[in-house]
Amino acid sequence: MNKDNKYILGIETSCDETAAAVVASGRHLTSNMVASQIDVHALYGGVVPEIASREHLKTIMPVVDQALKRAGISASDLSAVAVTVGPGLVGALLVGVSFAKSYAAAIRKPLIPVHHIEGHIASVYLSDSEVKPPFLCLVVSGGHSHLVGVEDYSRFRIIAKTRDDAPGEAFDKVARVLGLGYPGGPLIDKAAQGGDRQAFNLPQPRIENSLDFSFSGLKTAAIQQLDRFKREAKKKGIPWTDLCPLADFAATFQEAVAKTLVSHLQSAVEQTAYETIAIAGGVSANSRLRKLVQELSAEKGLKLVVPQMSLCTDNAAMVASAGYFAWKSGRIAGADQDATSTLDLELFTQA
Ligand code: KG4
Ligand code: ZN
Repeated sequence: MNKDNKYILGIETSCDETAAAVVASGRHLTSNMVASQIDVHALYGGVVPEIASREHLKTIMPVVDQALKRAGISASDLSAVAVTVGPGLVGALLVGVSFAKSYAAAIRKPLIPVHHIEGHIASVYLSDSEVKPPFLCLVVSGGHSHLVGVEDYSRFRIIAKTRDDAPGEAFDKVARVLGLGYPGGPLIDKAAQGGDRQAFNLPQPRIENSLDFSFSGLKTAAIQQLDRFKREAKKKGIPWTDLCPLADFAATFQEAVAKTLVSHLQSAVEQTAYETIAIAGGVSANSRLRKLVQELSAEKGLKLVVPQMSLCTDNAAMVASAGYFAWKSGRIAGADQDATSTLDLELFTQA
């Protein structure tokens, strides 16, 4: 415990992780607890919203207690409590917001509302102690695909977003059709190791005159290709993996997603003057995306920040960090603070 630090408790319950963390002055990770519900939802092949809310209710208090204990501080040492207020599953968000509101009131500290994407972006500050806005951030997860100009800690410019599915959704859906399990991203990443990245043809879709993303066509094309392999294999009486080994299928699909993301990032770099780029969100854990982004930054002579793996997927340290900077900019929740399933990043942070 250092008296010069401002300790923020972060709480995150927007999807299927019940998370609490303590971060000192926005940059120093003091504790980071994540209670994952993956095992429960894996039985159903995806997140079941009602179950997610009930699991959050069960675990939130112990997770917060552990976060403080690990940090070696007590609630009275906190400067504020930060919580994700949206976007996400509304029932899941409500558990975190209601808990954080009562907790902050009980310890007489301010409550800071945080946007989930703003949180993912803040994982960059926890991974590199020097990095400062402005920078260009590719935020890619199960629910989001955004290219964000981070103009200041709490000021953002959306340069592009997805018109349909997020890349994580595409990974999860294709993994489900492959029978790999949930969540699909890390399983496809693992299956792709050593595979041929050009085993068959997949589109890398671009929308004309726009940097917006679209992944539904690529997702459908991958699933149709898999169906074709399965039909052909059935006719020949052989396993479909004799026509295209699983590693090749996974590597080709992963390559198409990663190449699409990096080509948008490259266009954004070429159309703007940012000298630093970063990636964030669950899909930024992808090994091929991390490699291609490194190559892009080297080629363009840009500084690159890639968060450590544990900070890519949902966590509360990123919420505590974003909360610290929001608190410094004067953002404080009122007693009427609500949880919102859809929430625009620019409008939210301008309000
Ligand atoms: O950020 P996150 O935890 O939650 C959302 O805000 O959506 O992201 C979860 C997503 C899932 O779709 C998961 O499959 C994907 O991130 N993911 C990955 C990898 N690790 C997690 N996708 C590709 N490669 C990975 N290694
Ligand atoms: Zn997320």
